[in-house]
Amino acid sequence: MNKQIVLIPGDGIGPEIIAAAQAVLTKAAAKSGIQFTFETHLAGGAAIDAYDTPLPGKTLAAVRRADAILLGAVGGPQWDQVSPEIRPEKAILGLRKELGLYANLRPVRVPAVTANYSTLKPEIVTGVDVLIVRELNGGIYYGERMEAGMVEGREQAWDTESYSRPEIERILRLACQVARKRRNKVTSVDKANVLASSRLWRKTAGQVAQEYDDVRIDHMYVDNCAMQLVLSPKQFDVVVTSNLFGDILSDEAAVLTGSIGMLPSASLGDGPGLYEPIHGSAPDIAGQGIANPIGTILSAALLMRHSFGAEAAAGQIEAAVERSLADGYRTADLYQPGLTKLSTEEMGRKILENLR
Ligand code: NAI
Ligand code: MG
Repeated sequence: MNKQIVLIPGDGIGPEIIAAAQAVLTKAAAKSGIQFTFETHLAGGAAIDAYDTPLPGKTLAAVRRADAILLGAVGGPQWDQVSPEIRPEKAILGLRKELGLYANLRPVRVPAVTANYSTLKPEIVTGVDVLIVRELNGGIYYGERMEAGMVEGREQAWDTESYSRPEIERILRLACQVARKRRNKVTSVDKANVLASSRLWRKTAGQVAQEYDDVRIDHMYVDNCAMQLVLSPKQFDVVVTSNLFGDILSDEAAVLTGSIGMLPSASLGDGPGLYEPIHGSAPDIAGQGIANPIGTILSAALLMRHSFGAEAAAGQIEAAVERSLADGYRTADLYQPGLTKLSTEEMGRKILENLR
């Protein structure tokens, strides 16, 4: 099986972490009988420098043809002065829109060996394994809005939260399907006690649940969920929610792990999936070879799992990461006395070695 992967290293530490992840991806694919062809393309600041646009037509054409996309990060202070229409971030939003990526998946796992990095007590976070599924193409981010203006003598502005049944159904189905490969439990999060859009969400979620009799669906109000995530995060398997609630809850859940450099993400739609670490381009450490490549390597695991159904390969990558951490290897962001400090490249190689 031959598959086309588009790599978009982007800016800052992007090229360093993508190089480490590409090596891991190549080995994992070969082990599962998939042959990857890689194409590297520009987006973000690097593309602005080369083509005066953050998302060149050539990159767009390539991602449309691709089977999956692995992205580093875009942006940096050297592009802060460019005009708003061509800012580097436009590349990410443009890709999400062009590829119809309606689901954002952010797994948050805390192996015992990194539990002491969290601001929460180790016994609360050890063994956490939550997958946040955030709706990414609808809700208040895309609803009708009015920019600040005068209404009856007062300045006013508004945004609207709106969801249609098909939008809710597709994200709930996706959540149930991924739950089947995990612990068969979905928590649907809304604010149905107050919001009409949430009442449709809850009703629809209940109906979709009937299509998946092997998956248990619970409903939870978002304010309670925010509290439960830090009170007893181990109760959650898959959490599915709207665009705005998902944005907030996924940042909150990320804190359970203690380092932004560890967290991967997948954005899925009807076409190719896009995979990227949740952090940015880290301009403060770019070019020094000290960035943590694990968020990107775990994004490569998600790519194997969600774009190619290669569950075994995904699990092997995740196990190789955990093994390397358990053996005491750390990049500078997670270094503590008594452990072994590695560069980005060395960490990548260590994980590659542990990939069996
Ligand atoms: P950031 O995530 O790039 O950095 C925040 C802090 O975390 C920095 O101290 C950085 O050194 C550290 N850090 C991040 N990733 C790391 C890693 N893999 N290993 C070790 N340390 C790491 O966020 P910041 O500084 O707010 O943004 C920098 C640039 O990145 C901005 O231009 C921003 O717009 C862009 N950005 C891009 C994103 C994307 O491409 N999806 C997402 C977030 C920010
Ligand atoms: Mg956010």
